Amino acid sequence: MIVILGATGRIGSRILEKLLPNHKVTAVARKDIPPHPNLTTKSFDDLDSVLSEATVVVSCLGHVPSVNMLFEPLFVTEINKKIGEHPSNFRFIQLNSGGVDNPHGGDSRPFMDRLIIGSIGWLTPFRDSIQSANYISTLKKEWCCVRPVNFIEGEGEYEVFEHATKSVFSGAAAKMGSIADFMSKLATDDVLWNKWKFKMPMLYDK
Ligand SMILES: NC(=O)c1ccc[n+]([C@@H]2O[C@H](COP(=O)([O-])OP(=O)(O)OC[C@H]3O[C@@H](n4cnc5c(N)ncnc54)[C@H](OP(=O)(O)O)[C@@H]3O)[C@@H](O)[C@H]2O)c1
Repeated sequence: MIVILGATGRIGSRILEKLLPNHKVTAVARKDIPPHPNLTTKSFDDLDSVLSEATVVVSCLGHVPSVNMLFEPLFVTEINKKIGEHPSNFRFIQLNSGGVDNPHGGDSRPFMDRLIIGSIGWLTPFRDSIQSANYISTLKKEWCCVRPVNFIEGEGEYEVFEHATKSVFSGAAAKMGSIADFMSKLATDDVLWNKWKFKMPMLYDK
């Protein structure tokens, strides 16, 4: 059973749409989601028992833009830890951000990118992205931390690299349908999974 956290969000909802026709999915969410014969919806209180049944866990959680988000706890990292420490064996896929460095190194970024990213690194959503990536990269459980750059509408051809290859501020973008395509395939395609597990793929529009 595939578990999605953040299935009400922009990327999570698109992944759900792609998976539901052919897969049993459990969405862990705060809000109602339209019913589907292949969908079960659970609350965050049920997370532990849901994880016990999971074969794949996809987290698309993120801070919803508002002034309050600056004062929110680092809940993405907290939930990553609950997933990472769970004793069950499942593949763990996290949506993260193209501005976040791979803690194991290898990202090549222009000086201006480093300067700008460094200056916003204290903001809660970005701090949460960095800390959740740092955490997931230490896991023994199979994981993949997907790092798309700036989200735009649509779906189309995309390319995936092991390390950052372009400036985040040069107009590079990732279509939301394409991100959902890659992440839903990671959940269901063993060949793709074996290629990207234990890595932090960067996803850009072609
Ligand atoms: N925006 C960009 O251009 C961009 C670019 C690269 C990477 N990213 C990354 O993408 C991620 C966000 O993706 P998105 O745009 O799909 O996010 P989104 O549409 O804002 O969705 C966020 C999801 O997280 C849930 N959520 C928020 N606060 C929560 C809380 N306290 N407890 C439980 N669930 C909570 C939301 O649930 P509700 O519906 O209940 O609020 C929603 O399902 C972030 O990690 C961000 O760094 C964004």
